[in-house]
Amino acid sequence: MSQLSCHFQPLPFSYDILIRPGLLQDGAFFKTRLFPLASRFVLIADEKTASLYGVALQKILGDKTLLLSFPEGEGNKTRATKERLEDQLLEQGYGSDTGIIALGGGIVTDLVGFVAATYCRGVPLGMIPTSLMAMVDAGLGGKTGVNTPYGKNMIGCLYQPKLVLIDPCLVSSLPLKDLRNGIVEIIKHSLIADALLFAYLDLHRDKLLALDSEILSYAISKSCQIKIALVEQGPKRTLLNFGHTVGHALETLTHYTLSHGEAVAIGILVESHMALQMGLLSQRNFEKIQNIFVRYGLPLTLPRSFSSAECKKTMQLDKKSLLGNPRFVLLKDIGVTKSCEGIFCSCVEESVLETALTWMNDGMCCN
Ligand SMILES: NC(=O)c1ccc[n+]([C@@H]2O[C@H](COP(=O)([O-])OP(=O)(O)OC[C@H]3O[C@@H](n4cnc5c(N)ncnc54)[C@H](O)[C@@H]3O)[C@@H](O)[C@H]2O)c1
Ligand SMILES: [Zn+2]
Repeated sequence: MSQLSCHFQPLPFSYDILIRPGLLQDGAFFKTRLFPLASRFVLIADEKTASLYGVALQKILGDKTLLLSFPEGEGNKTRATKERLEDQLLEQGYGSDTGIIALGGGIVTDLVGFVAATYCRGVPLGMIPTSLMAMVDAGLGGKTGVNTPYGKNMIGCLYQPKLVLIDPCLVSSLPLKDLRNGIVEIIKHSLIADALLFAYLDLHRDKLLALDSEILSYAISKSCQIKIALVEQGPKRTLLNFGHTVGHALETLTHYTLSHGEAVAIGILVESHMALQMGLLSQRNFEKIQNIFVRYGLPLTLPRSFSSAECKKTMQLDKKSLLGNPRFVLLKDIGVTKSCEGIFCSCVEESVLETALTWMNDGMCCN
């Protein structure tokens, strides 16, 4: 890995985001950056990230650090898991002098962020994202939460970490499927804000999939910059939801057998199809978007077709819905989105939505 090192300080929140290959092995660094945040620490990971990195990190942080874990998977990002973790902390007498460190993918950063937000009415939170998805998206921006049977992330809050530490080397142990999930969010960031990043991702596909350190670190840091810039711009944060109105509905309807990244890739294509039909996005750009997902090997496959009635009913629960009508972020170009008087998502004609969903079900993108 190259020694590329990045450092951001999102202004309204004043926390540091540090990106450096090899960071996780730098014990001295942890002691100087983490220890001032609290008098004792609890590392919370899923079972996989606990064994891959948690045990080693616990040794670095010393015997005052407790390591807790919960089973992997979206089905465990629940109120019940949160309660179990809280009870474990309470039973062991951890109070408001505790710092909580989330060590894992987006499921861990979302759930553990929510634990930290409410434990003793809020304790300092450190994020160590380990999946590409968490490095470029879930671990940044302060959104925390859990799923319910009624929909994804329906219960949660905004809670900013005190520190985000990103070691791109950790991606080397990530299964290809999870690597691709993270790449989907990087592609999404390029589509809503940075045509040059889109071209870069297209050009360097082979090296990125081979985890070339320079290419990977560049893509991670660009992606983090885009996410943080949009989060800071208040209403523009909505743009980060591109592909997610449809994507979240597909996750719910498939009971999470589609991963977040796979669902969002299909969501991006369906929402781009709407922009194509409305004459906002050119056919050429639409094809470029289709091609990049194919080139990165995204499966783009649905386990079954979904009626427009069930899709619409599920999308009504989307947080952007207006009077029960789903709203979508629409692309005008690669890197450019439609906005109207400070509003960054739009309702679409019934026929546009129907046509896009039919296109999805007919397998034009999902075969
Ligand atoms: N809060 C936000 O802004 C935001 C943004 C995007 C996604 N999310 C959420 O993030 C979740 C998806 O995140 P994800 O894709 O990271 O899923 P995940 O947390 O389930 O991680 C994927 C898998 O990879 C494993 N893993 C993680 N790091 C690893 C590593 N370095 N090496 C080997 N295995 C590793 C995990 O144990 C898990 O099995 C969803 O719940 C989604 O809603 C939240
Ligand atoms: Zn996402």
